Amino acid sequence: MQFAGSHILSVQQFQRDDVERIFAVADDMRPYAQRRRITRVLEGAILGSMFFEPSTRTRVSFGSAFNLLGGEVRETTGFESTAIAKGESLYDTARVLSGYSDVIAMRHPAEGSVGEFAVASRVPVINGGDGSNEHPSQALLDLYTINSEIAGRGGSIDKLRIAMVGDLRHGRTVHSLCKLLCLFPNVQVVLVSPLELRMPGEIVEDMRKSGLQVMESDVLEASIAHVDIVYSTRIQEERFSSQEEADLYRGRFRLNQSIYTSHCEPNTVIMHPLPRDSRDNARELDDDLNDNPNLAIFRQADNGVLVRMALFALILDVAEQVDRHARDVSWYTAGRF
Ligand code: NCD
Repeated sequence: MQFAGSHILSVQQFQRDDVERIFAVADDMRPYAQRRRITRVLEGAILGSMFFEPSTRTRVSFGSAFNLLGGEVRETTGFESTAIAKGESLYDTARVLSGYSDVIAMRHPAEGSVGEFAVASRVPVINGGDGSNEHPSQALLDLYTINSEIAGRGGSIDKLRIAMVGDLRHGRTVHSLCKLLCLFPNVQVVLVSPLELRMPGEIVEDMRKSGLQVMESDVLEASIAHVDIVYSTRIQEERFSSQEEADLYRGRFRLNQSIYTSHCEPNTVIMHPLPRDSRDNARELDDDLNDNPNLAIFRQADNGVLVRMALFALILDVAEQVDRHARDVSWYTAGRF
């Protein structure tokens, strides 16, 4: 695809060589993301960051990624702080905000809303999550993490075995990840969820049509026995009609160190898009895994900055210029990574 000036709305816009290009640029961003070097390549550029749903990692890492390339961030969070609360349409908001920004990252609770916003925007828009639909930058950083974790263990995406666990019906990260994996036909996927929260049928069908081997299960232990990656997810309580309904499923699948030791192959990598729900009645990924070296969740979150820097560099067409605007940092940075 042509990255310069493009919106990033769905992983379905990528071919395999696009993904490889993003990952190669993300690799080049490491010295900047780790604050060993600084670059000013986006000096003067402005990211409009519009998050209409709660977000920690995605919002802050988009902002950090832009700052690390030398750009500035203008941010709005929640409907109540914008004119949408006064009845302004997404169309008008997009027309206005795109006059103040060079690129926009947006999260919104309604499926398709970020696409609708992009149609009216005069600058590229990156989907930071639209309802249950998609979360393309998360899927890219997840696949980037999968690749680096399993390469370090002698594996490759082409023979990947992965279990995705939890609320597969509402989880946009797993929707996007499954669609992205369609570019890798030899992958084996086990989808573990309560029956009511299964992966949407059309996504499963597309994976099978692309050649992937897909199994569905509602039992955790047997499903994680022969995989390279366990990708755990949170019950998406905000997508249920009531807390009582969400409570029916919360805590249904809990991975802890003892289940990991008894059922997983050695060195099985544990991932989660975060936030994990650490309340007592949930705990899909127990804190007792924190010292397990195969728990990749914080490396995964760190990789979000690399991948989002790569997306900005490609969309704003400066990937080749980053090093020309760079120098070493002068402050103390030891031990952070
Ligand atoms: C996810 C999301 O918002 O979809 N979080 C994230 O962006 N890392 C997952 C979640 O909220 O459960």
